[in-house]
Amino acid sequence: MTDPQLVLAERVQQALAAAFGADFSDADPLIRPSQFADYQANVAMSLGKRLRRAPREVAQEIADRLAEADFPGTVEVSGPGFLNITLDDSWIAGRATAMLADPRTGVAVTDEPQTVVIDYSAPNAAKEMHVGHLRTTIVGDALARVHEHVGNKVIRQNHLGDWGTPFGMLIEHLLDIGEEAAVAQLEAGGSNEYYQAARSKFDSDPEFNRRARARVVTLQAEEPETMRLWHIFMNATVSYFNKVYTRLGITLTDEDIAGESMYNPMLAQVCDELQERGIAVISDGALCIFPPGFTGREDQPLPFMIRKSDGGYGYATTDMATIRYRVQDLKADRIIYVIGATQALHMSMLYASARMAGWLPEHVRAEHVQIGSVLGSDGKMFKTRSGKSIKLVELLDEADDRAAAVIADREYDDATRAEIAHAVGMGAVKYADLSVSHDSEYVFDFDRMLALTGNTGPYLQYATARIRSIFRRGGVDPAQATGPIVLGHPAERALALRLLGFGSAVAEMAEESVPHRLAAFLFDTASAFTAFYENCPVLRDDVDEAVRASRLALCALTLRVLETGLDLLGVPVPERM
Ligand code: ARG
Repeated sequence: MTDPQLVLAERVQQALAAAFGADFSDADPLIRPSQFADYQANVAMSLGKRLRRAPREVAQEIADRLAEADFPGTVEVSGPGFLNITLDDSWIAGRATAMLADPRTGVAVTDEPQTVVIDYSAPNAAKEMHVGHLRTTIVGDALARVHEHVGNKVIRQNHLGDWGTPFGMLIEHLLDIGEEAAVAQLEAGGSNEYYQAARSKFDSDPEFNRRARARVVTLQAEEPETMRLWHIFMNATVSYFNKVYTRLGITLTDEDIAGESMYNPMLAQVCDELQERGIAVISDGALCIFPPGFTGREDQPLPFMIRKSDGGYGYATTDMATIRYRVQDLKADRIIYVIGATQALHMSMLYASARMAGWLPEHVRAEHVQIGSVLGSDGKMFKTRSGKSIKLVELLDEADDRAAAVIADREYDDATRAEIAHAVGMGAVKYADLSVSHDSEYVFDFDRMLALTGNTGPYLQYATARIRSIFRRGGVDPAQATGPIVLGHPAERALALRLLGFGSAVAEMAEESVPHRLAAFLFDTASAFTAFYENCPVLRDDVDEAVRASRLALCALTLRVLETGLDLLGVPVPERM
């Protein structure tokens, strides 16, 4: 355990047990960073009530117990009963040196590995992949990376929208324009134009409309020629998605595709079983589940409709099948759906229905990581200036171009410059999605996300590249900078104390699905490094050898924390910048 906050929590709980009995050993010590000391523990306030004693007295008793147990710092009682805790420099330095020697840099491997199924990205083949999908892709991928890093088994599921009635007209349109032309258009990201062309024929041309409907029937029957055409359409579409994934360094592969089409053969059986068991009932001709606790207008129970009155299946049916499959076949211990916040009601009705059906047992945790909308500068859904929605590859091209402008004054050859621009462009776009709480909306703004100051991807990339350059200039291999760390200057101390929180920040991101907290931790770390670097020369001639060794070790530890953390977020770091 390296995180001082956790170490202190444990110490305070031991002191509570010693002072007031074992019953008190699991009281929350309420430890917070403080402006008067390193930390403040506020447990004496609530405990005072429970013990019917003055909080100040309770606090003093805890402080006395702490002092007995070779406590690595000093404790002071202040105000009505706060415990102000200041850690010894030597303790912080020792922990930081040990963290540097630890190949996992203070990040624990879980002792109870779980199978974590993560549903993310999930663009629809029949529509444009838009910035919203980009955000679920980026957030979901960061979660997948962090779960793997802490030792869980991750199963990625890309739930493509690849089935349903629109495919009748999409296939007929493919026949009209020819396979080659269709493939070329789709691979270039032209699915929106493609869809609109098919749609307008469907609405205005009765013969096309008839063909499209007939095609839906042969698709449902999985007639071989229709399936061949469907595969051509899907392969071209997926190859466009893959282009976007590759550019962004997303870890999804074709193996992770488990789209709506995969569940199609299970839907009739899903409905039959739920109806036979009385979990679903016919209501106005439709087959519905009425999970407890969901009511609509005038307190009417809200239906979760798994079969429409015309016999058709919908989003709810498929999602019941996803849950059953993920629990029974994939053996999930935890299922994370990284999906738009607008689907919150659907998701909670889904979980409640699946619990009713016994398909989501109590011990399996299901959660909806709600993704907020990405807005344009006008505060509406993000679009191009002409009002059309944006092709993602074009957006990424623009990110590259603008990133190239940011580093225009640097002296690099063209290839290096292009490489850096790409890392900076992608890093900026990805970090913008990750640094705000996943459920809040934010405005997509290239200028802000590419800024070299503030909580941005480029700032963190720059901080990292700068540390690498210290080692280059000093001719030192970071792996050789092992310390020991000794703390003299307050900026060194602040940096070391901050670094010790890395393991907790990673664990918290995995436990609570909060990439923005890890991002905030990395930003604080980079800021603490900046303050350190401004105050504490490292390579200068007049720096004493032991001090230089310690400072280089602090640089090495900061570098490892930033590199590992950014990698867990999926943000690339250019070697120089
Ligand atoms: N394809 C859907 C959309 O674009 C998202 C699917 C999310 N996954 C799921 N199991 N419902 O809105």
